[in-house]
Amino acid sequence: MADLISGLPGALGPTTKGVPRRIRARKVEEEPITKPGVAETAAESEPPFHFSLRPQEIARHLGRFVIGQAEAKKVLSVALCDHFQHVRLTEAGQTAPFYQKQNVLLLGPTGVGKTHLIRSAAELIGVPFVKADATKFSETGYVGGDVDDLIRDLYRRSGNNIRKAEHGIVYLDEVDKLATREPGSGRDVSGRGVQTNLLKLMEDAEVPLVSPNDMTGQLQAAMSAMRGGVPTKETLNTRHILFIVSGAFSGMEELVRRRLLATPPNEPQRRRTALSIDALLAQTTTADLIAYGLEPEFIGRLPVRVACHGLDEDDLFDVLRKSESSLIHQYERAFGAYGIAVEFRDDGLRSLAARAAQEGTGARGLMTVCEQVFRDFKFRLPSSRVKGFAVTESLVRDPASTLKKLLGIKQAR
Ligand SMILES: Nc1ncnc2c1ncn2[C@@H]1O[C@H](COP(=O)(O)OP(=O)(O)OP(=O)(O)O)[C@@H](O)[C@H]1O
Ligand SMILES: [Mg+2]
Repeated sequence: MADLISGLPGALGPTTKGVPRRIRARKVEEEPITKPGVAETAAESEPPFHFSLRPQEIARHLGRFVIGQAEAKKVLSVALCDHFQHVRLTEAGQTAPFYQKQNVLLLGPTGVGKTHLIRSAAELIGVPFVKADATKFSETGYVGGDVDDLIRDLYRRSGNNIRKAEHGIVYLDEVDKLATREPGSGRDVSGRGVQTNLLKLMEDAEVPLVSPNDMTGQLQAAMSAMRGGVPTKETLNTRHILFIVSGAFSGMEELVRRRLLATPPNEPQRRRTALSIDALLAQTTTADLIAYGLEPEFIGRLPVRVACHGLDEDDLFDVLRKSESSLIHQYERAFGAYGIAVEFRDDGLRSLAARAAQEGTGARGLMTVCEQVFRDFKFRLPSSRVKGFAVTESLVRDPASTLKKLLGIKQAR
């Protein structure tokens, strides 16, 4: 597991350090699952994929890093368990020919933990994980890239281990940007083309390990074959790769509201039109997603859907105070590197959260606010004799005066 995790980016993401020992121990007790018919290389002879987690264990783990999003945690935990238990059983010889893959669609505003949830889950399960924005792909693959590159990326992330890559998670953000808002208008053809290219991948496709556009790679593969190298499997199957897609879907709440308004006045749905954006988004149906401009075939392959809610001031306070991946640890570490101890008091955290809530960018607002508040502290304190300070409401309200006082007091001594 460790080799996969070390290959993942995301310094802000959680680490597996915190994975409960009980879970880790149970995972290695299981019989290794080997897959016949695949050429074994040194990397591939390692113990392969194991899975023995239960939905509540995953949800609990996610809860250590991600604040709120109870519904998303529940839905995601169940989908992940369904998927990886199915993979485990299949590889143990218990096939299920009519199994439908539980690909997931996450809706929700920016900075509320969508990527954080998926990354944390992938790290816990110990499967390779790739994340990309749907906007970087084009229909032809000449400009931007080809969706097959996602699968090849997964292969690289898994240390060129086909078996591990075939059990990975592909996370595609900004899928709402693939929508063709005006059906039949002929605009945004590329978005529709990318959706079409994704269809096969999301089900069961063989992806060549070397891209047809990669001339160097093609040449190397041909030369290796001529030299009589060990024949290796040259394609990667996507049957057991889980696809999770997400998007902010801005404006979707209006579509949902309009649909609800179209129902007869005495129907209970009608009363729900006065709901908040979060509540409206949570009621998104297949018809709404199609009206938004996504292709029915694409949406049909994403049977698991859940909306993430926006983060209010209380949530942001908890993100700072309770999340193990809280930004305050990053600040403690940054100041600690110069021997400066920072104490974050609750009133200080509350003011940071209140200011971040006004930014309207979810937990990302915390980064913006902290950067502004602590900018001069980071610049001045490392060269001063200050050995510590407390982050209070008055520091957040007026960082300049607090810094002056801090430096003045210390300098006067
Ligand atoms: N609910 C949350 N609990 C704890 N931390 C959070 C939460 N939401 C966001 N964060 C923090 O904010 C950062 C950005 O969140 P994330 O990347 O998950 O946003 P997102 O929902 O994927 O947004 P976008 O739609 O813009 O990609 C995370 O790395 C994490 O540190
Ligand atoms: Mg994201």
